[in-house]
Amino acid sequence: MKPNSLQDLYLNELRDLYDAEHQIMKALPEMIAGATSEDLKSALDEHLEVTKEQVTRLEQIFNEMGEEPKAEKCKGMQGVIAEGGDLVDEIDDPDLRDAAIIASAQKVEHYEMSGYGTARTYANLLGEDQAARLLEETLDEEKEADQELTTIAGEINAKANEGQTEGETSETPKRSGKGKRAA
Ligand SMILES: [Fe+2]
Repeated sequence: MKPNSLQDLYLNELRDLYDAEHQIMKALPEMIAGATSEDLKSALDEHLEVTKEQVTRLEQIFNEMGEEPKAEKCKGMQGVIAEGGDLVDEIDDPDLRDAAIIASAQKVEHYEMSGYGTARTYANLLGEDQAARLLEETLDEEKEADQELTTIAGEINAKANEGQTEGETSETPKRSGKGKRAA
């Protein structure tokens, strides 16, 4: 579709998000299976449930516009998910793998936040008040998921770093402190 108006851009964004959400629904079970931390597993699990509602919300918006819910391949999300998955697959250490899963999941969230923010702004401009409200609701959920991942990352990143440091100390002299004082 060649966009000729903001309405066209809006529809394009909705179709992009509709596809992105479907990709996420497919990817999340694999991320959950690869995760070790119970907190991380349950956060991703919860987001899978939320994602299903977000798809329904998009369908509601399409229906109210008189449009068939249609997906437009979201190449951006495809890249983000593939890149994260490839990295996670290479990691054996459970804490390090959890840290990589969080990093990947947060990239997904930020991509979605950007898309929903744009769609919400277009909906407001176009006078689609009900749609704007629904998009804002999803945007808030994505922000919440991102915040929760940041909280979980605090502990997991530290554990991943500890594991690395322990491994290093047998052969590598301790560097802590020196660098800081010199700076
Ligand atoms: Fe989502």
